[in-house]
Amino acid sequence: MGNMIEVINLTKSYAKSGKQILNNTTFDVEAGGFYAVMGSSGSGKTTLLNVIGGIDKFDSGDITIDDVRISVLNRNEMADFRLNNVGIVYQDYNLIDCLTLRENILLPLHNKDIDPSEFIIVSNEVAIKFGIEDILDRYPHEVSGGEQQRAAICRAIINQPKVVLADEPTGNLDSKSTTTVMQCFEKLNKEEGITILMVTHDLYTASYCDKVVLFKDGMITGNLERKGMNRNDFYKYILSELELGEIYE
Ligand SMILES: Nc1ncnc2c1ncn2[C@@H]1O[C@H](COP(=O)(O)OP(=O)(O)OP(=O)(O)O)[C@@H](O)[C@H]1O
Ligand SMILES: [Mg+2]
Repeated sequence: MGNMIEVINLTKSYAKSGKQILNNTTFDVEAGGFYAVMGSSGSGKTTLLNVIGGIDKFDSGDITIDDVRISVLNRNEMADFRLNNVGIVYQDYNLIDCLTLRENILLPLHNKDIDPSEFIIVSNEVAIKFGIEDILDRYPHEVSGGEQQRAAICRAIINQPKVVLADEPTGNLDSKSTTTVMQCFEKLNKEEGITILMVTHDLYTASYCDKVVLFKDGMITGNLERKGMNRNDFYKYILSELELGEIYE
């Protein structure tokens, strides 16, 4: 299988600090892959994800998603590309408070030529996959964090994207909700073939992935591959490598 995401010699610095945040960052995400990016706070993980998602600009280098060079797209083309190909999930869910879960999930479809009677059907379909079909008419403050995150995942995939980018998606969740949400990501990846690139600080969350990319000072410093290990063994492997590599120094 080919690559879904290719990041080549990416550099970025912020004018305010002048600090180089991405430093010739180069890596690929295989089509159908489920990758975690781990690294210390401030190492540039969120910046990397935002640049890949076309939310933030970069200074030099190149990014290709599904053979499309996003660096040559203008603002409108990028927004269009993202809407149809990339779903994004955030740590704090980013749901709109005054909309129900169903309305939040349907937001990405607002410009599409879809018969309104279809809206109920498509939102039910996606919600059933993640076990939130009975609470779709509640508002975000009326459901738990884990349920909000599952609604945010539904919203991210309602347009059937090829790629999902997630920035610490379990960062605000307790261990039970973390497991539920990670099982949702696993399902997206294994059953729907969606390529997932996720940033996390959490070893347990990372152990659901096929590969962990280690990141330090805007550079990739290592790759840990699961290679058929069960989740528990992969967890132990990541733990031992992180202890060796001083990644959280
Ligand atoms: N808009 C901005 N202007 C200037 N500096 C910024 C901006 N956004 C981020 N930075 C700086 O860039 C560096 C990388 O930030 P980034 O948010 O990508 O780190 P991170 O690896 O996601 O950290 P964390 O694990 O804490 O979320 C940090 O030093 C941060 O202060
Ligand atoms: Mg971050």
